[in-house]
Amino acid sequence: MSYRNDPYDPKQVALLDPAALAEAVAAAEKTFAAAGDPDALTALRPAHLGDRAPVSLARREIGALPPAAKADAGKRVNEARRAIETAYAARQEILEREQAERVLVEERVDVTLPYDRRPRGARHPISTLMEQISDLFIGMGYEVAEGPEIELEWTNFDALNIPADHPARGLMDTFHIAPAGGSAPAAGDQAGSGLVLRTHTSPVQARTMLTRQPPIYVVVPGRVYRTDELDATHAPVFHQVEGLVVDKGITMAHLRGTLDHFARAMFGEGAKTRWRPHYFPFTEPSAEFDVWFPEHRDGPQWVEWGGCGMVNPRVLRACGIDPEVYSGFAFGMGIDRTVMVRHGVSDMRDLAEGDARFTRAYGVEA
Ligand code: PHE
Repeated sequence: MSYRNDPYDPKQVALLDPAALAEAVAAAEKTFAAAGDPDALTALRPAHLGDRAPVSLARREIGALPPAAKADAGKRVNEARRAIETAYAARQEILEREQAERVLVEERVDVTLPYDRRPRGARHPISTLMEQISDLFIGMGYEVAEGPEIELEWTNFDALNIPADHPARGLMDTFHIAPAGGSAPAAGDQAGSGLVLRTHTSPVQARTMLTRQPPIYVVVPGRVYRTDELDATHAPVFHQVEGLVVDKGITMAHLRGTLDHFARAMFGEGAKTRWRPHYFPFTEPSAEFDVWFPEHRDGPQWVEWGGCGMVNPRVLRACGIDPEVYSGFAFGMGIDRTVMVRHGVSDMRDLAEGDARFTRAYGVEA
């Protein structure tokens, strides 16, 4: 369309007509307004401001005008072009701002979210349960007592009325750490005692009675050891919780009420205990007890839970407490077993392995 308009022909300079230029501006403004994002607007630019755009073509027509008309026409074209450029820039600014706002919202990063690049672990259900049990007894006025896991043979056995030749020693498969010292250790002598990994939490009974006077109300959660292979139902390391009460006028009825309360806290309102006569050297009389668990995975049933009894007067005496004045009860049960029954865990190894995929399921237990 670039040609010399010679001789002058008004039809060939129609693009310079004020109405045509106004129309070009209006058309540009209209299409720019319809563009939805900066890229769409950029794509519209050549049609309205490029070499082939009406305003550009119009500019080329100026040369064909008579000299007197050129300045006027040039001004008109420039104004039209500036109007389109202004409309373009205005629309561009709006679209870019909108896009920036959209990006801010859509690509927002919450810097307060927890940093989680390391795989998360979880509390072990045994730890959780030990704390729950401690809390329950603290609520009844008990204190938590602890003792060493490497224990004197004397406290683990002798003080609990289990002398060296007592058959009960053989029943607990003991890890021995150090033999009794001295050439001829006197039987029952604390000073010459050997060391063992404690086979139960009961030595903490003796430690407690030796260090404080009644009234004694203690709960003793802890780790214990026996020389068992790890299989579905045994582990060389497991956990027990022990209870010990020594006070004036303590009877078996107190023990029964305490264990039934404990059972309901662990196994639900419908839980209760059932006792079977048993023998422990450190309690007399003694019993083993089962718990009725209404929500057992395999249907309501009795489950073996632990041992208990009235503290043997011989133990009270060995620990410096007068059995004529005080009486007491004691009980102990496995925590691992309690977790397994409550949660339907059938393999002890799942508790021992510490795989977070297993423990995580319990990590939120309140
Ligand atoms: N210590 C006993 C055991 O490990 C359990 C028990 C504790 C029994 C307290 C009576 C009293 O088998």
